Amino acid sequence: MGESTEEVSAPGQVFLFGEHAVVYGQPALATAINVRTDVSGEILDGPKFEVVSEKVGHVEGNIEKKNGKWIISDKGGDVEELSFVTKVTELTFNHVQNARGLKLHIESGLPLGSGLGSSSAVTTATAAAVSSILDEDLEREEIAQLAFDAEIEIQGAASRTGVNVATYGGFLRVLEDERKKLEELSELGLIIGYTGKYANTGELVAGVRARREEKPEIINPMIETIGNITDTGIKALKKDELEKIGVLINANQNLLEGLGVSSPELRTLIKATRDSGAIGAKLTGAGGGGCMIALSPNNREDIVEAIEDENGKAIKAKVGAEGLRY
Ligand code: MEV
Repeated sequence: MGESTEEVSAPGQVFLFGEHAVVYGQPALATAINVRTDVSGEILDGPKFEVVSEKVGHVEGNIEKKNGKWIISDKGGDVEELSFVTKVTELTFNHVQNARGLKLHIESGLPLGSGLGSSSAVTTATAAAVSSILDEDLEREEIAQLAFDAEIEIQGAASRTGVNVATYGGFLRVLEDERKKLEELSELGLIIGYTGKYANTGELVAGVRARREEKPEIINPMIETIGNITDTGIKALKKDELEKIGVLINANQNLLEGLGVSSPELRTLIKATRDSGAIGAKLTGAGGGGCMIALSPNNREDIVEAIEDENGKAIKAKVGAEGLRY
C-alpha cells in the first residue's frame, strides 16, 4: 500500500480454557471476538513519530538510527500507556531495515486491561500498519513474531496465544509455538462480563510465577490439570457436549482461583451468571479484574441482566471472528 494505510485491524479475544497454564507449556483454547482495534497511519515529512489513541492518549518522539538500530527517541506524552505501540514500531523498522517519520491513529472497541487481548490486538495491528505504510509486504508469521517480541519486551513472560489469535483469528488451540485452528466450533452462546476493573497482565503472570516458585508441588499439578481440562474441553466442544463444557469451564475457574488470579468483582459476576442459569462461568485472560465469560446456550438475556445488575458491562460478542485484516 505505502504512504498511508486504511483498514488495518485485529480482533480481541477470550480464553475458553487454559490462560496462565499456557505460559508453562500447557495447551490453551482461545477464540477471536468481533470487537476490534483499528490502526491507520500516514507518512510525516520529518523523522518524527506520533501516535494518537482515542482511548489512551498520545505519544510524540523522534526517529533516529543509533549504533545501527532504529529507535524512537525523546518520547513525550503517554509513553508508558502506549509502550506496546512504540516498541513494536521500533521492532518493525529494524525488521524491514527501513524507517520513515509517521503518525498512527488507534481506535479500539476493546476496554484496556480487560482481559480481552487489547494489547495483542494493538501490537499486531500496529506491526501490520507500520509495515504497510513503509510499503513492505510482511507475512502473517512475521507480523505475529514482531508483536510477540514486543509483548515479551514490555510485559515479560507471555505466551503466543494473544498474538496468534489476533493474527489468525478463529478458534485456536495454542501450545507453546504450535497453533491449531479448529474450524468446527463456531456456535457458542457466550456472554462476556466486564468488571470495569483494570488488570495488569504482567503483574498477574509474575504473581503466578512467584507462587509456583514458592510451592511447586501444589501449583504445578494445578497447571497440568488446567492443560487436561483444555484438551477435554476441545473434545467436548467438537461433540457439542454443552453440559460437559460447562462443568469444565467451572473446574477451570476453580483452578484459576487456586492460582490466585481471580478477584471479588469476578467472583460476583461469575456467581450471578451461574445463579441465572449459565452452565459454566470463568474469568478470561489474566484475571485480577477484567472480564469473565458465561456459557449459556438458551437464556442469554437473563445472563446479560445478571451481569448488569451487578454493575458489570455485558458484551454479546461473536466468537470465532476473523483475525488480522491488512
Ligand atoms: C493473558 O491474556 C493470558 C495469560 O495466559 C498470559 C499469556 O498467555 O500471555 C495470563
